[in-house]
Amino acid sequence: MSEAAVRPEEALYEVDVVVNGVRYVRQVEARTTLADFLREELGLTGTHIGCEQGACGACTVLLDGRSARSCLVYAVQADGADVVTVEGLGALAPRARRVTLDDGREVELHPLQEVFQAHHALQCGYCTPGFLIAAFEFLRDNPRPTEAEVRAALSGNLCRCTGYQNIVDAVLDAARRLAEEGAGPA
Ligand code: FES
Ligand code: FES
Repeated sequence: MSEAAVRPEEALYEVDVVVNGVRYVRQVEARTTLADFLREELGLTGTHIGCEQGACGACTVLLDGRSARSCLVYAVQADGADVVTVEGLGALAPRARRVTLDDGREVELHPLQEVFQAHHALQCGYCTPGFLIAAFEFLRDNPRPTEAEVRAALSGNLCRCTGYQNIVDAVLDAARRLAEEGAGPA
C-alpha cells in the first residue's frame, strides 16, 4: 500500500515514554489511549479501565508527576513523558517493604498499599489502583490532611463496592505513618 493510501486512523506514530523508570519506544495508532497502551502494549494491567470517560478514576496514573486519567490521554500525548502506574508506586516510597506474591514474584509495597490492606480499604480492588495514585499525589502535596480534605481529594474516584470509609481511614493512617517516619509519600 502506498503511503498516500494509508488512512489517518491506520497510521502509526512513535511514542517514546518512560514508565515506572523503564524507557519504551513503541508504534501506536493515533486513537490508542494511554490506558490501553499501558495495559495492552506494556502489559501493565494494574491500571484499570472503568468508565472510559473520565468519571471513575480507575485509570489514574501519574503523568510527569501529576495525576491524570489515562483513558482521556492519547498515548501519543504521553510522548516524552514520565509515567508512573500503580506497579511503580512502591519504588517511590522512601522505605518500601518487599513482599513475595503468591506467584513467587517479589514486589515493593508503598506504605499506602500496606495501609489499604490493613484497613480493608479494598474489596474487589477494581478502583484501588486509581485511589492509590490519587492518594499518593494528595499526600505528597498535603502530608497532614484533615478527614474532610481527604474526602474532598478522593471525591473524583468512584468505588462501586462503596468502601469509602475504609479508604479515608487508610489515607489518614498513611499520613500519620509517613509523618512519623519523617517522610512524605515520595
Ligand atoms: S476509566 Fe478513566 S476515569 Fe474511568
Ligand atoms: S473496591 Fe470494588 S470498586 Fe472499589
